Amino acid sequence: MPSSSPASASTAHHPAADLGSPPPATPARRRHAVVGAGHRSQMYIDAIVGEHADLAELVAWCEPNPARAAYYDTRIGAELPRYQPDALEQMIAEQHVDRVVIATPDHTHAELVARALDAGADVVLEKPLTIDAAGCRRISDAVARTGRDVVMTFNYRYSPRNSALREVIVSGAIGDVTSVHFEWALDTVHGADYFRRWHRDKSKSGGLLVHKSSHHFDLVNWWLGDVPTRVFASGGLRFYGDDNARARSMGPRPARGTGATGDPFSLDLRADPRLAALYLDAEEHDGYLRDQDVFGPGITIEDNMAVLVDYARGATLAYSLNAHSPWEGYRVTVNGTAGRAELEVVERGAVQPDAEGNAVLDPSATPDVVEEGPRPHGERLLVQRHWSRAHEHPIPRGTGSHGGGDAILLADVFRGAQDDPLGRAAGYLDGVRAAAVGIAANQSMASGLPVLLADVDFGVELHATAGQTAAGQTAAGQTARGLR
Ligand SMILES: NC(=O)c1ccc[n+]([C@@H]2O[C@H](COP(=O)([O-])OP(=O)(O)OC[C@H]3O[C@@H](n4cnc5c(N)ncnc54)[C@H](O)[C@@H]3O)[C@@H](O)[C@H]2O)c1
Repeated sequence: MPSSSPASASTAHHPAADLGSPPPATPARRRHAVVGAGHRSQMYIDAIVGEHADLAELVAWCEPNPARAAYYDTRIGAELPRYQPDALEQMIAEQHVDRVVIATPDHTHAELVARALDAGADVVLEKPLTIDAAGCRRISDAVARTGRDVVMTFNYRYSPRNSALREVIVSGAIGDVTSVHFEWALDTVHGADYFRRWHRDKSKSGGLLVHKSSHHFDLVNWWLGDVPTRVFASGGLRFYGDDNARARSMGPRPARGTGATGDPFSLDLRADPRLAALYLDAEEHDGYLRDQDVFGPGITIEDNMAVLVDYARGATLAYSLNAHSPWEGYRVTVNGTAGRAELEVVERGAVQPDAEGNAVLDPSATPDVVEEGPRPHGERLLVQRHWSRAHEHPIPRGTGSHGGGDAILLADVFRGAQDDPLGRAAGYLDGVRAAAVGIAANQSMASGLPVLLADVDFGVELHATAGQTAAGQTAAGQTARGLR
């Protein structure tokens, strides 16, 4: 944890009460504000006050919950000015904010992005872009109107194994891609976690096909350098939720995990000091319960989903997501005209809660290694050309979270995307293309029919245009102009 930082010193000179002229010019340091100081914001906060403090400065919070803002004040060792969401524009003006980092619940993204752009700030946005077509239109319109930047932080692109698969495809080793088979398994701890708080409400997260799969759909769009055109989906809530619990005669359960002992489906916030500080101790201010029972009422998202996606250049994606698997990881097969690439990843081979029923929440961010047995933690990328033996393509190992990928992402975000042959930096159009698949999948699940993406108004043309390819586009300077 950063204890003292350049941010602490510099922000102390610009309290909320100082509404005068802009602070002395430090042109190289962009003034950032964090919008939504919850779990995810920490990575950005640490990067701004730590590794990238020479180019970035943290100047304010836009966060409705005072306990969470206070938590991050303590973390950075400074008291930053705090603003409520309805004062976003006021914050941008008073604190001379150049760029906001938005890490709020998904349903709030469209409004906050549009308002921040209109108020004169650029945006760094957590996935998903938004949860519906209206949100895409709102963001597209605001980008077109203001010409400002929206950087999408698709961190999965930066995982060395995912970058390696793109490298293989771009190299032409497997020829032109004809189809992709992609299975993602979330386990009964990490997968279950989407059924405890706002994600469980489709009107807040868009369901897992938007909230979670936007990572995966973005990966496929980027791996293929192609644009989705048609989507068919099927799925349902078949494991979590009160109806399923009743059907399996599970009996009465506590409404929340904190205080429940010995139940691996319960999350006891007291077991993790960070979770306790960010949520349990913050409940009194907004009633946000982080640990609701995954077998309780009110869940409106799916836990088993299958999606077929057609791509503009002719490939088909067959995708599935399961949120109650006994192990966590994913398998991707990419078929091409010259061969096949197969990526297999085990992030947690088995869930083994401790005596109190607790386990690491997200094994992709914090490894929870199970090395023994036939499903060891690990990753393997096999490439096999026609008429040849398979060979293992090397996956570079970095240090830090997500195999070192997060550090590269943060360098792109705060130091500017460099000339990257893999084109990992993503802009809002990549966000639209990824969210579009999940949004159309939701429509398809509701209607039982396939959805042509050309029939949905996302406010921007999804197809690549000259100089703005799905994979080659850089975040810097990207706008919606000329794309309508
Ligand atoms: N890329 C990844 O791997 C990854 C991982 C986790 C979360 N995320 C994304 O980050 C975002 C935040 O997720 P989280 O887990 O941190 O959620 P969270 O609930 O822990 O934090 C959200 C914060 O936003 C605040 N908030 C709510 N409405 C707001 C508003 N209108 N304006 C300002 N603040 C508001 C809440 O009080 C809370 O502090 C989501 O979009 C999620 O999809 C991405």
